[in-house]
Amino acid sequence: MGHNLLKGKRGIITGALDENSIAWKVAQKCHEEGAIFTLTNAPIAMRMGEINKLAEETGSKIIPADATSVEDLTKLYSESIDVLGGKIDFVLHSIGMSVNIRKNIPYTELNYEYFNKGIDVSAMSFHKMLAVAHKMDALNDHASVVALSYIAAQRVYPFYTDMADIKAMLESIARTFGYHYGKQKKVRINTVSQSPTKTTAGGGIKGFTEFYEFADMQSPLGNASAEDCANYCLALFSDLTRAVTMQNLYHDGGYSATGVSQEQLAAMNK
Ligand SMILES: NC(=O)c1ccc[n+]([C@@H]2O[C@H](COP(=O)([O-])OP(=O)(O)OC[C@H]3O[C@@H](n4cnc5c(N)ncnc54)[C@H](O)[C@@H]3O)[C@@H](O)[C@H]2O)c1
Repeated sequence: MGHNLLKGKRGIITGALDENSIAWKVAQKCHEEGAIFTLTNAPIAMRMGEINKLAEETGSKIIPADATSVEDLTKLYSESIDVLGGKIDFVLHSIGMSVNIRKNIPYTELNYEYFNKGIDVSAMSFHKMLAVAHKMDALNDHASVVALSYIAAQRVYPFYTDMADIKAMLESIARTFGYHYGKQKKVRINTVSQSPTKTTAGGGIKGFTEFYEFADMQSPLGNASAEDCANYCLALFSDLTRAVTMQNLYHDGGYSATGVSQEQLAAMNK
């Protein structure tokens, strides 16, 4: 049951591919909390058609947009404003893709064409989403923008290869754009650094299952689920967090503050 935390708010939610997607849960929770929003994804991802179910469930319109295209993003904001009946109060950037990871290319041998693609899709798209909104003045004062990140932006996780550098860029964009947009319109911009989560993007990483278990063992609260992540995102979209901006916020069951757990040590002794 919702608490009407987002009643009267209008949003744009990217990245809901299937029911495992973090964005899918965010959309469900935002709907529960009384928000109205549009859903968007890359035209190619629409082919699976899964998103139609979510659109029906939440009464949302789907507006296809490749997040690397300024033209598509401009259309996304203008159509969203039309459909929702006013400027936007919250945006979720839930987009990640690395061809180097998909093709199992080690960090020391990265393919630069793929690296560029990863940067464009997973980090520069965030700048573009913000820059287009800024240019169009598409966001209301005190709007909240959240992008999803991972702790490999701060510490080494060898299997995360180029996405580690890309997430570092994403987090930096949140800080720097957060400064400018905050000064001008009180718009807040944060990244949520989420636990490993079983989704299409997560599962594509080599050794993900083992690492998922390892992280779960290290986190006093266990890995944070996609549902919990959705709750955290909607708290950030709500008026309860009006002074939180330019932060990278760990949402990981305590993983990032734990050096090692007794369970991990016990597992070593088996
Ligand atoms: N799953 C994890 O373990 C984990 C952990 C921390 C952070 N994250 C981040 O969470 C976010 C969402 O990923 P997820 O785990 O829900 O996986 P997911 O595969 O369900 O979502 C990724 C989405 O990105 C979309 N996308 C790819 N290219 C695009 C483009 N050009 N334009 C628009 N959309 C595009 C995909 O269609 C998909 O919907 C990503 O930023 C990911 O890096 C995931």
